[in-house]
Amino acid sequence: MLKSFSLEGKVAVVTGAASGLSQAIAIGFAAAGADLLIADINHDGLHETARSIRALGQKAEVCPCDIADEDAVDSLFARLDDVYGQVDILLNGPFAFNREKPARLTLDDWNDAIAVCLTGFFLCAQQAGRRMIERGAGGSIISIGSIAGASALGRGNFVYSVAKAGVHQMTRELAVEWAGQGIRVNALLPAQMLTPSVLRWLEDPATDEGLVAHLLKGIPMNRMGEPEDIVGPAVFLASDAAAFVTGTLLPVDGGNLALNAGGSHKW
Ligand SMILES: NC(=O)c1ccc[n+]([C@@H]2O[C@H](COP(=O)([O-])OP(=O)(O)OC[C@H]3O[C@@H](n4cnc5c(N)ncnc54)[C@H](O)[C@@H]3O)[C@@H](O)[C@H]2O)c1
Repeated sequence: MLKSFSLEGKVAVVTGAASGLSQAIAIGFAAAGADLLIADINHDGLHETARSIRALGQKAEVCPCDIADEDAVDSLFARLDDVYGQVDILLNGPFAFNREKPARLTLDDWNDAIAVCLTGFFLCAQQAGRRMIERGAGGSIISIGSIAGASALGRGNFVYSVAKAGVHQMTRELAVEWAGQGIRVNALLPAQMLTPSVLRWLEDPATDEGLVAHLLKGIPMNRMGEPEDIVGPAVFLASDAAAFVTGTLLPVDGGNLALNAGGSHKW
């Protein structure tokens, strides 16, 4: 039965793979048997991820790429065609935004955040989807959404939350558009996980000291997530074990979205 969870013989493109959740997922895909094309704007981090993938005996092709740049995304997928000639799995991972209150957010900051968090995901999904349709063997497209796209967070998360809600609806639309071609499209919705970006935020002197305690009030499992927490759900969605799973927004959040804002997990 566990064979259906294997990614052997599959090729995965993972963006944002130099760090955090996408890095953990890329290495997890390799551990499950996939070969990888990994992309990011952080070259050193990419090479670090590639070393971990190769140590598991899988192929790792490295491609620096800003997913907000259409030409760079074209080049990424041209590289995929040259090296592998197929794509079975796409994992959309990067994010970028300036934390700012809506009344003060500039149009440039809005556009920059949407370009990475939403448009970049679409560009990669479109490139992968076209190839999956042409090859006729189906595929799995997974985007990292967020609890921020499912409920409001405040604290200047505004444009990021709006972009993530867009990622969630893109997931549903593409799942329906491409179901007939055997392409499954799903999203993972993490709550706070201790990745480099979250650690930087927690360690920022401008951040309220009580933030972790506040965040934990919203997480019934009463701990912050670790990057490893997202690997199993990602491998599942990428694999044939999820053959009838599409259009799903899967929280990986220790119960955060299950908890009503008026509720409490302290008895
Ligand atoms: N960590 C969390 O608690 C959490 C919670 C909810 C959602 N998420 C989502 O998980 C994903 C990964 O976040 P993380 O916490 O691992 O962050 P991270 O900062 O550790 O990793 C993000 C990676 O994206 C890369 N990147 C940024 N802009 C890029 C671009 N234009 N093109 C290519 N790569 C780019 C960065 O270089 C970095 O390697 C994001 O989509 C984020 O919104 C994270």
